[in-house]
Amino acid sequence: PRTHLVLDSAFTVGPVRRRLFGGFVEHLGRHVYDGIHEPAHETADEHGFRKDVVELVKELGVSAIRYPGGNFVSGYKWEDGVGPVEQRPRRLDLAWHSTETNEVGLHEFQHWLDAVGSEMMLAVNLGTRGTQEAIELLEYANIDAGTALSEYRRSNGRQEPFAIQMWCLGNEMDGPWQLGHKNAEDYGKLAAMTAKAMRQIQPDLELVACGSSGASMPTFGEWERTVLEHTYDDVDYISAHAYYEEGDDLTSFLASGVNMDHFIKTVTTAADHVQAQKKSDKRIDISFDEWNVWSISKWEEQQKTFELQDWPVAPRLLEDVYTVADAVVVGGLLISLLRHADRVASASIAQLVNVIGPIMTEPGGPAWRQTTFFPFSLTSRLANGTSLQVKASGDTVDGGKHGEVPVVDSAATVEDGKAAVFLVNRHQTETTSVTIDLAGLQVDGDVRAEGVWDDDLHAVNDLGNRERVALRTNETVRREGDTITIELPPVSWTAVSIG
Ligand code: AHR
Repeated sequence: PRTHLVLDSAFTVGPVRRRLFGGFVEHLGRHVYDGIHEPAHETADEHGFRKDVVELVKELGVSAIRYPGGNFVSGYKWEDGVGPVEQRPRRLDLAWHSTETNEVGLHEFQHWLDAVGSEMMLAVNLGTRGTQEAIELLEYANIDAGTALSEYRRSNGRQEPFAIQMWCLGNEMDGPWQLGHKNAEDYGKLAAMTAKAMRQIQPDLELVACGSSGASMPTFGEWERTVLEHTYDDVDYISAHAYYEEGDDLTSFLASGVNMDHFIKTVTTAADHVQAQKKSDKRIDISFDEWNVWSISKWEEQQKTFELQDWPVAPRLLEDVYTVADAVVVGGLLISLLRHADRVASASIAQLVNVIGPIMTEPGGPAWRQTTFFPFSLTSRLANGTSLQVKASGDTVDGGKHGEVPVVDSAATVEDGKAAVFLVNRHQTETTSVTIDLAGLQVDGDVRAEGVWDDDLHAVNDLGNRERVALRTNETVRREGDTITIELPPVSWTAVSIG
């Protein structure tokens, strides 16, 4: 197969906002406890956070990090996570059938975020709680001094406000599994009321209303329209969540980006419809605040084994071990996000450590990079400046349930005389020859290509072999004048950097 790409700096999508490379930390399984936080570990800092994990998170290059959930937040009392650690209550976490010790809360998590150099994106509980608790949390976090809750924060050791800018108004409220699940009308009213109240305290907050938990939800599309009819003037973003799994259908899996493209288009269409209805000048963009590859079917099986009387602390949940094929799909999903950089303001790979994460840890042992670490870290490092519209022509391939799809999916960015092109070859058996026409770009300099591919599509990094899969250099890349040529191996993800 062959593909020809044309890049021109005149044809842009929009600026690549750093929040596109966000992450997500939920109190779930071994994500917080025995993941980022393990006081007995030899690398632990004075607050019990593993420094080896901090280093990997920095290398991954994540911007804003969503916290503390997820399904967890819909039953969470933020007050349990502040004040002297030894006095904090142990609580049942209904979302994950676990015991929450509350050893880590807002202050400790901010300490960890400072260590990794990321911004907090904080979710409030609109499942079992409401507007009052949300504004109390905002007062605690963002008011300087002189009120009961800001003084309480100070007495807990934090003089300056946390200054949290981006807030999620609940989590997946369209999902029947969610504690406090609501219909779109009821959620829309609650989210609008909460947003208005929060803005009375701080008008410049960036607020995210819950969109759909997936494109297959029965209310998808209609949910967004109804929620935005209530909240349009009061929020900035509508969320989107999407997970993909290989199951026994590699063909469809490799074309997952098609579904993500469709998702983004549907949500922006619903948002723009409400904008037109309201004759508003304001545009609502997307916070794609959960996306990844996740074997949900394995999780559904694991859930059936839970005993009602067991409420373990930090059990091993959702510990997917990612393959080469998973990494190629993650790279492809990043391509889809970049292609929509004009409407996707922010996105969070879900999640970061142990729980469907690019980073794994063993208690008392090492931390390592999963296969999916590589496309994320390299895209986050190379995708800067402006996202370009890529004009692509060439062969197609069977995309399973997504129909016939281009054999190569691509996105490109340009900034200050440097460019990057991201490529996925979806063909399962054949190398695809790609030519890239750079005449419209004015980018000089050498080219380099790195990526992920392997003869064994199901090769993984695990405790026994932590470095089986790593970035590889594609030696076939050449530049002659304004033309780049490269051969992409079957089922591969590649980043080409120019200049
Ligand atoms: O990321 C795992 C879970 O997936 C989150 O808690 C929830 O929001 C989603 O259903």
